[in-house]
Amino acid sequence: MNVHKIAVIAGDGIGPEVIEEGVKVLNEVARLDGGFRFEFTHFPWGCEYYKETGRMMAPDGIEQLSKFDAVFLGAVGSPGVPDHISLWDLLLVIRKSFDQYINLRPVKLLSGAPCPLKDVKAEDVDMVFVRENTEGEYAGSGSWLFRDKPNEVVIQDGVFSRKGCERVIRYAYELAKAQNKTLTSISKANALNYSMVFWDQIFEEVGKDYPEVKTYSYLVDAASMFMIKDPKRFEVVVTSNLFGDILTDLGAAIAGGMGLAAGANLNPERTFPSMFEPIHGSAPDIAGQGKANPLATVWSASQMLDFFGYTTWGKKLIDCIEEVLCDKRVLTPDLGGSATTKEVGDEIIRKIRES
Ligand code: NAD
Ligand code: IPM
Ligand code: MN
Repeated sequence: MNVHKIAVIAGDGIGPEVIEEGVKVLNEVARLDGGFRFEFTHFPWGCEYYKETGRMMAPDGIEQLSKFDAVFLGAVGSPGVPDHISLWDLLLVIRKSFDQYINLRPVKLLSGAPCPLKDVKAEDVDMVFVRENTEGEYAGSGSWLFRDKPNEVVIQDGVFSRKGCERVIRYAYELAKAQNKTLTSISKANALNYSMVFWDQIFEEVGKDYPEVKTYSYLVDAASMFMIKDPKRFEVVVTSNLFGDILTDLGAAIAGGMGLAAGANLNPERTFPSMFEPIHGSAPDIAGQGKANPLATVWSASQMLDFFGYTTWGKKLIDCIEEVLCDKRVLTPDLGGSATTKEVGDEIIRKIRES
């Protein structure tokens, strides 16, 4: 029996509500399969922990997590704690410490999911973002000079290393080649005259090894316009950390909303654990009311199953999500229903048993 050790960081706000459903679904999949099981260990880290201890995680938190096969994360952030502390000292430190340099975010409109775009068919919105996840605009490099003085200056550096750019771009080419898809790079070299000129140059250089992959290169402003006006242009997309963050919330908006958007933070070499999470935040506006949509978390559970090699189960979970969306009987309020988070989780379990 294969045992997969999963560290669970439910976190803040709606994090614990959606993670509970994700864990339930993964356990059910393992039970039905019979050939593997999950061993979940829950960590109480997050903003409540911070308020009690002054830290977002244990001092040896990264060391503790390194013993697991994967991390399953809910959401982090609470109105009482500055976001740059809560996110840097938990989510971002995990992505960086475990060299999870690929952030794989599907933007796929499932049948039955609402789309605000006019005249768009479900198959027109079917892309996967490969977001750089450890450096770029999120390098955390900069300085704050003359604080609170009239001549105050802040500097936030973007850090684009050759290794960092090459590996994420190569991963995206490999993915496009394997899936026989086009590859689009999104950058901004007309204004960012060092970082993005370099990015574009590396996109071309690496592309020499993939003559069979058809490529496009867009400036980020035009790309955001095309995602709305003509989303079928995009198949595999590779972009920087910040652009990927912004464009995948835009992607969520055209593919059913934040309640359906998932992301995998991958360390492809498997030297360190990878991390799976819904891409939404802690949603303080609806926390504690049973209104959170758990389907994004279920989708990230599907990504985890794929990562462990159980791709048939991964696909089955997406099919179950699609069925729940098409039935329109058991949906949370963000999708026009009146069901609770738990009822949607239970409905997914029912669908898996029927599948
Ligand atoms: P958010 O994603 O939490 O919420 C944006 C909007 O989407 C809200 O109206 C919310 O109710 C809705 N929403 C989000 N997830 C939903 C779900 N599963 N079901 C139904 N509706 C959902 O973004 P925000 O409000 O900008 O951020 C809130 C906090 O979360 C901040 O502290 C922020 O830093 C943090 N954050 C954390 C993560 C993460 O942990 N991965 C991601 C984004 C934001
Ligand atoms: C995401 C989130 C994070 C990011 C924040 C919370 C630091 O928005 O995963 O999309 O910007 O990467
Ligand atoms: Mn984001």
